[in-house]
Amino acid sequence: MAPFLLITWRRRMQLLWCDSDDSFHSRAAERVLAAHARKPDLAIALPTGRTPLGLYSRLRSAAVAFSAVRWFNLDEYVGLSRADPASYAHFLHAQLLDEIDVPDTNIRLIRGDTSDLQAECRSYDQAIARAGGLDLAILGLGANGHIAFNEPGSAWHRTTHVATLTEQTRAANAQQGYPVPPCGITMGIATLIRAREVLLLVHGQSKGDALQALLQGDPDPSWPVTSLLEHPALTVIADGRLRRE
Ligand code: GLP
Repeated sequence: MAPFLLITWRRRMQLLWCDSDDSFHSRAAERVLAAHARKPDLAIALPTGRTPLGLYSRLRSAAVAFSAVRWFNLDEYVGLSRADPASYAHFLHAQLLDEIDVPDTNIRLIRGDTSDLQAECRSYDQAIARAGGLDLAILGLGANGHIAFNEPGSAWHRTTHVATLTEQTRAANAQQGYPVPPCGITMGIATLIRAREVLLLVHGQSKGDALQALLQGDPDPSWPVTSLLEHPALTVIADGRLRRE
C-alpha cells in the first residue's frame, strides 16, 4: 500500500506512514539511495537495533557502489570492541559494512574499548568535522524517546559524549540477547541537528508515545526526539500501526 505523506510546513518535517513492513523498509532505502545519488561521497551516520535491519538488507542488495561514502555510527557501548558480538560496530559490519564495497579508510566507528573515553569523543568529533559534517543521519527511536544514546533529560548542546543508559533502554536492548553495559558513547544532539538531513525510522509498537511526543510539535527535553523539531530537513518514516487519529 502506498505510504501516506504529510508535510508539516511549520516544522518542515516530512512524515511518511507505512502500512506494511515492506513499504517501511523500502521507503527508508529509497531515501538513503536518493541521498547517495545526489552525493556519492556523502557522510552517513548509521543506527543499530532491529529497526534498520530491513534497510540494511535492501542496501546490501542494491546495485550501487558505496565505495566513496564515509560511514560513521551513532553510538556504541562503553567497553566493547568491534570483535565483541554485542558491540554496535560488530553489528554494523555484519549487517552492512562487510557486505558492500567499502574501503576501511572510509569507515570511522566509535571505539567503545578505548582507554580514554574523553579523547575518543574529541577524536570522533574531529573525524566528523574532517568529513565536512554529516550529510545524512539515520536514526532509530527508543521507546522513551531517545535518539542514539541521548536519553531523556540529555543536554541538547552536546556533541559526542559518554552517556549513562536508563534501565528502560538497557532492558529493551537486552532483548537482543547480550548483556547491556551501563554506559554508551554517543553522538550528541548538537551533532545530529547539524547533519544536513535527518531520516528518523520509527518502527514497533513500543514507540507510540515517543512518536506522539514528536508529532505534538513541542520541543521537550524529556523526549529527546523532539529536539529534531528544530531540524530543517527531517523525514520521519513511521510504522502505520502507530497512527493515532
Ligand atoms: C538503541 C540504540 C538506538 C536505537 C534504539 C532502538 O538504544 N542506541 O540508536 O534507535 O536502540 O532500537 P530498535 O530499533 O531495536 O527498537
